[in-house]
Amino acid sequence: MKAGIFITGTDTGVGKTVVAAGLALALRNRGLRVGVMKPVATGCNGSGAHLISEDAVFLWEAAENEYPALTSPLRFRNPLAPHVAASLEKKSVEPKKLVRAFRELGQHYDFVIVEGIGGLFVPLARDYYVSNLIKDFDLPVVVVARSSLGAINHTLLTVDAALVRGIEVRGIIFNRVPLVNYSLAEITNPKVIHELSGAPILGSLPEMDDLDIATCRYGQLQHMVQERIQLDKILGPHFQGLLARS
Ligand SMILES: Nc1ncnc2c1ncn2[C@@H]1O[C@H](COP(=O)(O)OP(=O)(O)OP(=O)(O)O)[C@@H](O)[C@H]1O
Ligand SMILES: [Mg+2]
Repeated sequence: MKAGIFITGTDTGVGKTVVAAGLALALRNRGLRVGVMKPVATGCNGSGAHLISEDAVFLWEAAENEYPALTSPLRFRNPLAPHVAASLEKKSVEPKKLVRAFRELGQHYDFVIVEGIGGLFVPLARDYYVSNLIKDFDLPVVVVARSSLGAINHTLLTVDAALVRGIEVRGIIFNRVPLVNYSLAEITNPKVIHELSGAPILGSLPEMDDLDIATCRYGQLQHMVQERIQLDKILGPHFQGLLARS
């Protein structure tokens, strides 16, 4: 049984943390016990054993989780791909430990939302990419994408790379879609991307000016996700079962 989702993106900075936290808020509001995880975080603040991942804290506060070592098991200081940061900091990424933490988290919650690291081909270790981690977690993905010019190429590449590796693509969420003054690309991209990729479009989130990850300000995020994202499709076959238990 797959009781979770892996939030990947077409790129770094595309909105994975915002989407993952928004989903956690909205699913909790439906009565589910939601676990969150940022398996590997780079660019962390602090030092030594006290490195803190902003992403993990934003997710953790949204989900009101209780197991920080499982939510954020591995952190690096340098803002680099994990494989590169690990080499520089004389550490390593051990996928087995990440899988163990994920499975343990799953025992405490109904549904686990995992935020990826950059996109599918970010290296976590030598010959081990985010796509390998998704396979090891055995989760379907949601792809977070921009809707502006360039999104067709980035999104089709990501969906294709997932599908050829046997990763289920539950759908695509467009982020930072302008509600006014949108471009021609923003109007046409969702339909074209759906037609060409075959992946469901799960909705879009607008630009929100009341969001701040650094200070854990969520603003309208929960409301926007509830209004604009197809949560039942993200939950998939678990939907009925999970709601029945809650
Ligand atoms: N819909 C939105 N409205 C306003 N700001 C947003 C929105 N989505 C994301 N942002 C801002 O854009 C920045 C990048 O978003 P976010 O951190 O979610 O991306 P990410 O894909 O998780 O990045 P990373 O690869 O570093 O984990 C953040 O400062 C966030 O607050
Ligand atoms: Mg993030």
